[in-house]
Amino acid sequence: MENKKKSGFTGSIGFVLAAAGSAVGVGNIWRFPYLAARDGGGLFLLVYLVLVLTFGFTLLTTDIALGRKTGKNAWNAFSCVCPRWGFIGKLTFLVPVIIMTYYSVIGGWVLKYTSVYLSGRGAKAAEDDFFISFITSKAAPIVFMLIFLAITAFIVYTGVEKGVERFSTIVMPGLFVMILGIALYSLTLSHTDASGITRTGLDGLAVYLIPDFKGLTFSRFLNILLDAMSQLFFSLSVSMGIMITYGSYVKKDVNLNKSIAQIEFFDTAVAFLAGLMIIPAIYVFSGTDGMASGPSLMFVSLPKVFSSMGKAGIIVGVIFFLMILLAALTSCVSIMETLVANCSNIFKTSRKKTSFWISLYSAVTAILICLGYNIFYFELKLPNGSVGQLLDIMDYISNSFLMPLISLLTAVFIGWVIKPKWIIEEVETGNVKFGRKKLYAFMIRYIVPVIMSILFLQSLGLFS
Ligand code: PHE
Repeated sequence: MENKKKSGFTGSIGFVLAAAGSAVGVGNIWRFPYLAARDGGGLFLLVYLVLVLTFGFTLLTTDIALGRKTGKNAWNAFSCVCPRWGFIGKLTFLVPVIIMTYYSVIGGWVLKYTSVYLSGRGAKAAEDDFFISFITSKAAPIVFMLIFLAITAFIVYTGVEKGVERFSTIVMPGLFVMILGIALYSLTLSHTDASGITRTGLDGLAVYLIPDFKGLTFSRFLNILLDAMSQLFFSLSVSMGIMITYGSYVKKDVNLNKSIAQIEFFDTAVAFLAGLMIIPAIYVFSGTDGMASGPSLMFVSLPKVFSSMGKAGIIVGVIFFLMILLAALTSCVSIMETLVANCSNIFKTSRKKTSFWISLYSAVTAILICLGYNIFYFELKLPNGSVGQLLDIMDYISNSFLMPLISLLTAVFIGWVIKPKWIIEEVETGNVKFGRKKLYAFMIRYIVPVIMSILFLQSLGLFS
């Protein structure tokens, strides 16, 4: 971390790619489509896009500018500006602590699918209960998770992130092209089910794109808003300290305004296309019933798309899962890296020693999460109306509960204590034109605090 700090990012492109490497991960490709599908498609998409342009931009700007201006990581950035508000920085630390418990579990799922396609058994993966029987089995999910985690830990331990980031400059555009190709292909699908109903990719596209306001109640709308907001936090890696730390590595001559717009655009485009690739396909094969399947969605729907491609599908499957694997890895590295940096700062331990303890923590907690699908299986109704297991509960605590709270506190702090001008000045460093300056000030003072308060209460189930 120290070395990195001195050297910083080589330039604006280096920064954008590194931030995108953290931002683009299974959040975009796995989490976004399943939430969008569960919440009915078009309406979720609309809400999400509005949120990206308003909240996403505001929160990303705040984190990155705060990091660059103070030159400190999240733990210290708030307290160095105002000791009384330093506790927000401490609070952000909790988010990666929780996300780390399950991110590698999903990484393990992706790894499993990669290996299935690599060994030419892609057709099996398209069978109906393949995914369920995999995650409910006792050993396999743990083994794959541990391999994924070991690779992540190795990268963090040896400090070769720079190399990985360079690698991701090749992988990211490749992933983008693949997703686009598969998305276009899935629009051409058509399937007739047992009851004789034929559904096409274009019908599915309509479900994905056209908002359906029928039967919309206030409480359901709030739930969609909460889901979309939680997705925004998770996907952009904001309100959890990571972007503050990244901001602290950015040189003063980098145009923050432009870089932020690029990160926002890239992250959202990947999520949008992932939805386009997965939602019409699941609609074609399983109708609206299949759309509610939650975390399993991508793993159930994509193999079906690949298998409909015939032989080519096996190769597409291999390349595709390999790419997601890398995207997941760069994100997981950024989460673990933050934990290691923070803990070695707090406990004054060496980087290597801290990496070891964090890896152990991650492994033990992730094993528990894996067992949440068999030994510790239960069904808990979450305040947002969905039913969850251990993984969903962790996800809920970090993304639906902690992050609105942190954003609320940050917005009050920036908007009312140190004032938006403080951030705006940082973005404008070097005569940069900050086009959305007025929007920023208005959002951070009024809109973010109000909406986050409502969502925070909603996350506790108060309006349901
Ligand atoms: N943003 C990453 C994704 O979309 C996940 C992530 C969360 C990364 C938190 C870093 C921190 O997958």
